[in-house]
Amino acid sequence: MIPANSNTLTRIEIVQGNIVNQQVDAIVNAANTTLLGGGGVDGAIHRAAGPELLAECRSLGGCPTGEARITSGYRLPARHVIHTVGPVYRDGRHREPELLASAYRSSLALAEEYRCRTLAFPAISTGAYGYPKEEAARIATSAVAAWLEEHALPEKVTFVLFSAEDYNIYEKFVKKK
Ligand code: APR
Repeated sequence: MIPANSNTLTRIEIVQGNIVNQQVDAIVNAANTTLLGGGGVDGAIHRAAGPELLAECRSLGGCPTGEARITSGYRLPARHVIHTVGPVYRDGRHREPELLASAYRSSLALAEEYRCRTLAFPAISTGAYGYPKEEAARIATSAVAAWLEEHALPEKVTFVLFSAEDYNIYEKFVKKK
């Protein structure tokens, strides 16, 4: 739970919607290590950004789990796409929590490096990669809150949840007093 008195709570927002529509400086893609596209968030972002996105991704040579890479946003409203690779959930005893937290931190670090003031995250690893949603939300919100305590950028982070169920899970962790 994010301490209510910290200013970080005002810099975190949750919305229910589609990440491709977010009017932010960068959106985060829930990618795989090849960076060559997929389904879910990955499929939606590549469809909306257009073929130039895949062309740029091909030049990046993949991305290890827990790390992130940045590209242009092309036809998306967002200037950049930050591609990160979350862990495939097995049993919680194969470094999944650390790798998931690292995916969020790596994305935040690239957003800061590229002077992004606003950033939108999907619920990384909670779809095809099977991460339990509640545990993933706890890790995501605490990793982002910890970053915002120490950094001025991004100024604002939005968690974009696809379903009402996911939104309700996040609300518990980002409840405004
Ligand atoms: N906008 C926001 N959230 C979305 C969208 C969207 N357009 N589409 C799906 N989601 C939600 C899903 O409901 C899930 O809660 O994003 C979360 C992450 O789901 P996935 O996209 O399946 O991502 P992940 O679990 O990290 O699996 C990554 O799936 O698409 C492939 O190439 C990708 O191999 C990689 C794997």
